[in-house]
Amino acid sequence: MKHEIKDPSGKLGVLIVGLNGAVSTTFLAGTLAINKNIAKPFGSLTQMATIRIGKRNENKFPLIKDFVPLVDTNDLVFGGWDVRDENCFESAMEAKVLNEKDLLPVKEQLSNIRPMPAVFEQKFVVNLKSSFTKTGNTNFDLMEQIRTDIRKFKEENKVDRVVIIWCASTEIYLPIEDELVNLEMFENAMKENAENIAPSMLYSYAAIAEGVPYINGAPNLSIDTPALMEFAEKQNVPLAGKDFKTGQTLIKTVISPMLKARMLGLNGWFSTNILGNRDGEVLDDPDSFKTKEVSKLSVLDSILQPELYPDLYKDHYHKVRINYYPPRGDNKEGWDNIDLFGWLGYKMQLKINFLCKDSILAAPIVLDLILFMDLAQRCNMKGVQGWLSFYFKSPMHDENVVPEHDLFIQLMKLKNTLRRLVGVEAVTHTDVNQTHD
Ligand SMILES: NC(=O)c1ccc[n+]([C@@H]2O[C@H](COP(=O)([O-])OP(=O)(O)OC[C@H]3O[C@@H](n4cnc5c(N)ncnc54)[C@H](O)[C@@H]3O)[C@@H](O)[C@H]2O)c1
Repeated sequence: MKHEIKDPSGKLGVLIVGLNGAVSTTFLAGTLAINKNIAKPFGSLTQMATIRIGKRNENKFPLIKDFVPLVDTNDLVFGGWDVRDENCFESAMEAKVLNEKDLLPVKEQLSNIRPMPAVFEQKFVVNLKSSFTKTGNTNFDLMEQIRTDIRKFKEENKVDRVVIIWCASTEIYLPIEDELVNLEMFENAMKENAENIAPSMLYSYAAIAEGVPYINGAPNLSIDTPALMEFAEKQNVPLAGKDFKTGQTLIKTVISPMLKARMLGLNGWFSTNILGNRDGEVLDDPDSFKTKEVSKLSVLDSILQPELYPDLYKDHYHKVRINYYPPRGDNKEGWDNIDLFGWLGYKMQLKINFLCKDSILAAPIVLDLILFMDLAQRCNMKGVQGWLSFYFKSPMHDENVVPEHDLFIQLMKLKNTLRRLVGVEAVTHTDVNQTHD
């Protein structure tokens, strides 16, 4: 059935929490360069990927952006918050992800993008210094200030709609405690300055209260609590998260489905990497690392389903390490050692050495998520957007739904959702009586 999709006309405001970080500035510089036609949007499905319509023998493959009504990247207006009072050109130069020669053509636009002061509390990101923050008597006051920022940004920039994305540092691991289990308790906890209300939760509450779609690119809870999911349902707001799926987890969600598809067993999977950017420094704190570790560990069990295949996967050993190593900056190097077994239990090994650039992998994900979440809102879709799990290490899901981690199932889910929105039949890949589906 075809969905009613509101027109994407007008400007779309993009508010980034962590505006001056490596991911954010790499995304901003890249999008500005793409808009000037001096770069191509490599890595972005919304800009480059096609989608098959109809049967395999019909040969119809439009671009996704011609198939569903997405905002043109020239109609994006950028802003956000950070604890660093710098313009985005200065921050991009400092991040050293992109070369100066690639930043200079967009220097003027990048220099004009400056953050609003952040809501920040040191105890949630221990290894980060802050110098540009809001003050307020209660968490509720701080949240209200974020709401005011959103409204002011909309007014001053004459944008029709806004999407907010968390590209800020990973906060420490927090369990779901009483304050987070329902909306009323959460609202009281904000007013009473309860211990475990992190800044990311205040940004997400403010977004939902303003009817703004919210994306969480980091592994910390933020919107992933029953209280805020309840609020999003009530306010009719779409949510997506959490933790961008970029380097090693991307590889993991491709290789492990292959093992399972061929019924190959797994004795162990050891993943380690070196990373020297600010994110690596923040993750050097054990409590922030714990948030990341939990996000990274869930993937294998969920794909391999040891409860269904005990002979193959029950006792596999899974270890994930992240090592802060400043000389490498954003150029992460990851090593995966996979101990597997096959026919008659004979042992084999697979080694993967990925020399990647963290923010280069994350930037196109940021762009796609912004455009797809705006689409979701224009389609009146609310709550957790499971069809965007393709982009996340630890896809958010409703309590009674098992998350999907396999990258290619996630891609099929995403494309079939787009087909459904437009009223085109889903592709089910069945071949009965030469249907070529
Ligand atoms: N790059 C990747 O491949 C990747 C993948 C998955 C997740 N992530 C996550 O994305 C986030 C951004 O990564 P990055 O490399 O850009 O990190 P970064 O340290 O370069 O940037 C984070 C920015 O957030 C700011 N910040 C921190 N707390 C804030 C707050 N409360 N309000 C506003 N700003 C705040 C910091 O000052 C900094 O400018 C991290 O949480 C990281 O774990 C990145």
